Amino acid sequence: MHILVRRYEPSDQEAIEIIYPDAIKEHINPAFLHAMTQPLHITISLFICIGAYLLGGSVILALISGGAWVGLVYCCCYEYYASYVQKRLRTELKDIPGHYLSNPDNCFWVAEAEMDGRRQILGMVAVKAKDDGDGKKHGELLRMSVLSTCRRAGLGQQLAKTAEDFCKERSFTKIILSTSSTQRAAVALYNKMGFKLVLVHTQSERPKWLVWMSKVKILYMEKIM
Ligand SMILES: CC(C)(COP(=O)(O)OP(=O)(O)OC[C@H]1O[C@@H](n2cnc3c(N)ncnc32)[C@H](O)[C@@H]1OP(=O)(O)O)[C@@H](O)C(=O)NCCC(=O)NCCS
Repeated sequence: MHILVRRYEPSDQEAIEIIYPDAIKEHINPAFLHAMTQPLHITISLFICIGAYLLGGSVILALISGGAWVGLVYCCCYEYYASYVQKRLRTELKDIPGHYLSNPDNCFWVAEAEMDGRRQILGMVAVKAKDDGDGKKHGELLRMSVLSTCRRAGLGQQLAKTAEDFCKERSFTKIILSTSSTQRAAVALYNKMGFKLVLVHTQSERPKWLVWMSKVKILYMEKIM
């Protein structure tokens, strides 16, 4: 299959609005499993079940109370990723030319291939330039996503290489990115591409309680050019 990585065109919009949310929301279940296996969340679950049993004297009440807690943790994990996706879809992904193509130091690419006789979008990636503060610039890699049925065929690597070459051409000092602790495939891809983990933190645009409940960590990685 011949894959072409090219700049965004308006006709790609519909595919992007499907591939990107699907690729990010697939981290909800792994995040939930991770959160529920943390010692603190296990302790809280047991505490709620035992507490409800002792207070109400009913196994059913204990199970319902424990289930409500588990449901709340799931909702938090869902919200963690879904709210992020919604914000991107309402802002930058709604106007890709305005956000990524109006400045020559930014770019948005899609990977396209001919499948079943028609061109199909299989993935995307973007770069946004940021000032280093000393007249130089670095690039931030964003929106890396590959259609779930086309994974492990080198497409992610091809997209990352495209973004990296773009940064090199512009003499950017480095390329940075943020991903989350549950995005294991992404972390493996970036490690393979030579990115180094620089910082693990929990600061994000989400409310602090949501971050605490979902137990997701942000990984900041960079590759010096
Ligand atoms: C991350 C993602 C873009 C990778 O795309 P891909 O096309 O499958 O990646 P590639 O086939 O180019 O893989 C390159 C290397 O990355 C690593 N890798 C990719 N997926 C992996 C997985 N599921 N498990 C372990 N390693 C993986 C491997 O080292 C792989 O090389 P190999 O196949 O020779 O072993 C894709 O999994 C995806 O869209 N995930 C959901 C969205 C996401 O998390 N995006 C990142 C936002 S920061």
